[in-house]
Amino acid sequence: MGSPLTLAKGLPLLASYVLAAASLPDKPADLTTPVQQRIAINGPNAISIGWNTYKQLSKACVYYGLSVDDLDLQQCSSSSVTYPTSRTYSHAVTLSKLTPATTYYYKIDSANSTIEHFFSPRVPGDKTPFAMNAVIDLGVYGEDGFTINMNMSKRDTIPHVKPALNHTTIGRLVANMDDYELVVHPGDLAYADDWYLKGKNWWDGSNAFQAIIENFYDQLAPIAARKPYMVSPGNHEATCGEIPLLNEWCPAGQKNFTDFMTRFGQTMPTAFSSTSANETAKVSANNARVLANPPFWFSFEYGMVHFVMIDTETDFGSAPDQCGGSSHLDGGPFGASAQQLEFLEADLASVDRDITPWVVVSGHRPWYTTGCWDCSACKPCQVAFEPLFYKYGVDLGIFGHVHNSQRFQPVYDGKADPNGLVDPKAPMYIIAGGAGNIEGLDAVVGKPAYTAFAYADDFSYGKVSFLDANRLQVDFIRSSDGATLDTSVLYKSHKTQFVI
Ligand SMILES: *[C@@H]1O[C@H](CO)[C@@H](O)[C@H](O)[C@H]1NC(C)=O
Ligand SMILES: *[C@@H]1O[C@H](CO)[C@@H](O)[C@H](O)[C@H]1NC(C)=O
Ligand SMILES: *[C@@H]1O[C@H](CO)[C@@H](O)[C@H](O)[C@H]1NC(C)=O
Ligand SMILES: *[C@@H]1O[C@H](CO)[C@@H](O)[C@H](O)[C@H]1NC(C)=O
Ligand SMILES: *[C@@H]1O[C@H](CO)[C@@H](O)[C@H](O)[C@H]1NC(C)=O
Repeated sequence: MGSPLTLAKGLPLLASYVLAAASLPDKPADLTTPVQQRIAINGPNAISIGWNTYKQLSKACVYYGLSVDDLDLQQCSSSSVTYPTSRTYSHAVTLSKLTPATTYYYKIDSANSTIEHFFSPRVPGDKTPFAMNAVIDLGVYGEDGFTINMNMSKRDTIPHVKPALNHTTIGRLVANMDDYELVVHPGDLAYADDWYLKGKNWWDGSNAFQAIIENFYDQLAPIAARKPYMVSPGNHEATCGEIPLLNEWCPAGQKNFTDFMTRFGQTMPTAFSSTSANETAKVSANNARVLANPPFWFSFEYGMVHFVMIDTETDFGSAPDQCGGSSHLDGGPFGASAQQLEFLEADLASVDRDITPWVVVSGHRPWYTTGCWDCSACKPCQVAFEPLFYKYGVDLGIFGHVHNSQRFQPVYDGKADPNGLVDPKAPMYIIAGGAGNIEGLDAVVGKPAYTAFAYADDFSYGKVSFLDANRLQVDFIRSSDGATLDTSVLYKSHKTQFVI
């Protein structure tokens, strides 16, 4: 017997008439109607707007302005891209020269589109407190996601999701819309490669993959169309199926992070020019701009924070998803040899702590984690990244991949920093991988000595609040009822202008 995908190719008629098949969303009557909207911080005064349509557009435009009644500005692009097996075309425009920290209204040009709004980015150095959410390993709801309790571990039991949406984590992000200004999601977005976990998809694998992607990004749009939604890749973005047998048969378009690249390649930033007066910092930031490779690795600044997004899947020694890697996902490389690590070093070296006292790095696979039945710390990631985190004084590392919430004492090389949460030299690490997905939560089995918190009873996510230049608060929030499960405050005096 061949893989489900080989069968799918031979049985199109049977698939249509006899067997259950992929749950593709209905197309809007007007095929120019925007779907799957997402925005991102694209520069110090810039927001990029990405969306898809079910037909190719020769000109993709956004109208915007400071009031609903006066969308007097316009930005267009002629790029309308797709890939084999996709039903949609991806578009992106960048709105630049925005007044900082201001509400803008925008309408993607189409007869039936609605007016949305966003808050423009805070300039680097703005010390106004703000919060962001860390949401990782999210996944789709509905027929291809959480409809059945398959009992491998805890899953949600919500029966069906209409566009009105009832995903406990997405629902909480909607309910708490006024409490945060952006979201970071380093990897494992739709879980389209888990299509085979639903028997009805077995005869229609290639469509099932796309159906999950379409449904997921429709479900995410209420958040991502309004709050900058900053992503980097996870293993579930890599191919059509995580198991090597399926992987061999992946159709073109469902290999090598194709949807991820097409969807976010034009909306994520590279790295900002430095606003420091220091020439060395400016040169270093310019090097980082050249070495950045969005949507895989890049950085941005927002108020008092310098954020870096890294790729824990490809592009460093023994990276798990690269050709010949331990995951057998055969992706990448996306840059020149050592480019990602050179980027990270140049980027971190450029940070002027008088301007952005906080440095936060987000990636998918952690190197500090509690155990679980099939997951472990990413040792090659630790070898590649941890020395740079330590040397350049990264304050907080945000990861996922393990499906639960975890917080660790600041730690370096497996040893807790003796200073704890008050001026540690080592970074503090959290895992916010319990947001929900078809694979369910990972039970906590075995806690390293430096574990401060671990929770796997229900879906949850992380909220990070930058209180001032010296205090950063992390809360873990239970998605179902909004309860705070854990709170901690990291204190950093940030007395050194350049930690190098
Ligand atoms: C416009 O949107 C409404 C409401 O979502 C929908 O019922 C209608 O079919 C749409 N019209 C077109 C032409 O797509
Ligand atoms: C899931 O497992 C629990 C405990 O083992 C059991 O009580 C429950 O009936 C199971 N549910 C399903 C849907 O199989
Ligand atoms: C989501 O589900 C909960 C519990 O089933 C229900 O109380 C709530 O009304 C639902 N919300 C929406 C928007 O459907
Ligand atoms: C400029 O920054 C570098 C680190 O990038 C540092 O070594 C140097 O002392 C700084 N120069 C001044 C004048 O602050
Ligand atoms: C994946 O895509 C990148 C960028 O397009 C390309 O350089 C690389 O060779 C591809 N890898 C594979 C295995 O096809």
